[in-house]
Amino acid sequence: QELQMNLEQIEKGGYEHFMLKEIYEQPSVIKDTYRGRLHANEGIIQMSGVEDNLEKFLNAERIIIVACGTSWHAGLVAEYIFEEFTRIPVEVEYASEFRYRNPIIGSKDVVIAISQSGETADTMAAIKLAKEKGAFVYGVCNVVGSSISRETHAGSHTHAGPEIGVASTKAFTTQITVLTMMALRLAKAKGTLSNTDFHRYLQELEIIPEKVKEALETNAKAKEIAAVFKDSHNCLYLGRGYNFPVALEGALKLKEISYIHAEGYPAAEMKHGPIALIDEHMPVVIIAPKQGHYDKIVSNIQEIKSRSGIIIAVVTKGDTQVRELADYVIEIPETSDALSPLITTIPLQLLSYHIAVMRGCNVDQPRNLAKSVTVE
Ligand code: AGP
Repeated sequence: QELQMNLEQIEKGGYEHFMLKEIYEQPSVIKDTYRGRLHANEGIIQMSGVEDNLEKFLNAERIIIVACGTSWHAGLVAEYIFEEFTRIPVEVEYASEFRYRNPIIGSKDVVIAISQSGETADTMAAIKLAKEKGAFVYGVCNVVGSSISRETHAGSHTHAGPEIGVASTKAFTTQITVLTMMALRLAKAKGTLSNTDFHRYLQELEIIPEKVKEALETNAKAKEIAAVFKDSHNCLYLGRGYNFPVALEGALKLKEISYIHAEGYPAAEMKHGPIALIDEHMPVVIIAPKQGHYDKIVSNIQEIKSRSGIIIAVVTKGDTQVRELADYVIEIPETSDALSPLITTIPLQLLSYHIAVMRGCNVDQPRNLAKSVTVE
């Protein structure tokens, strides 16, 4: 028993929980993910799975992404990135819905299945169905040798290393890293990104680990904010564009480990219903980096403020406009809009972590949840 405890302590590498360790591993695992694949100075992205099947991707009339949970959120981020960079239409499906609704799919479709564990039953079933219907199926998995990585025609591993905490953190950012590289490689082949943009994104992706490291410095601030909101019953997360899926992911993290009811929305959807929930007890986490739809987000913040909502804003360093309106601000380093989810997600992971710890929850093994969901 004691030996077991000591082993676990060693595995946690000095961190109190696996989740926190995994959050802090992100700068290095993102590097592991792009190592040998991203050559920013030479302007090259090399991914054998993509290279070997380049024609299939280039001839694709449509890309369908299937996944569950956090991996589905990474798929949503990828939808924005793929469509912007490659101009290939993308649909993102919950694997569980896809498999049961007789989807229209054929040999001109490329299906990308995203899964950390590579064992998720719903995702596996969606892959089998897509294969039966003649689609080319590409896996983005973390666990090498997993069922999904064996069942797919080809794929790219994320190299995040073992993820023990049930709440997925480093799997998410490394999935986005792989998918971004895939989109960039295809954009290069299709000529859908200008040379300047292509090179700029490569350079920027290469220094993302440094920015993630900087974003981890928000830990103290996240803890301070967590202390204020740990007893809340509800929380809203809002974002737009590339950061809309980050809002969903922020809400999922909070609900799964702290059991606080949380919802993520595209900020502009507020006025279509959720705004009715806003009062002086409602914390609203808003992802508002300088790029993207900044002015629109500012007016969303004003709408919430005028209804007495409490604003916790994730902003770009040096921001002044949102700071004036928000009750709490968390500053993150600047990066281009398309790569911002890799940064904006970090303080949200930390915020949920601290709230869960302060509520005395079992952070690494939340109730009712398993690390891989191998049942329907
Ligand atoms: C994330 O924090 C969850 N625990 C869960 O949603 C997870 O992402 C989902 O079950 C999918 O798992 P997979 O990536 O291993 O397929």
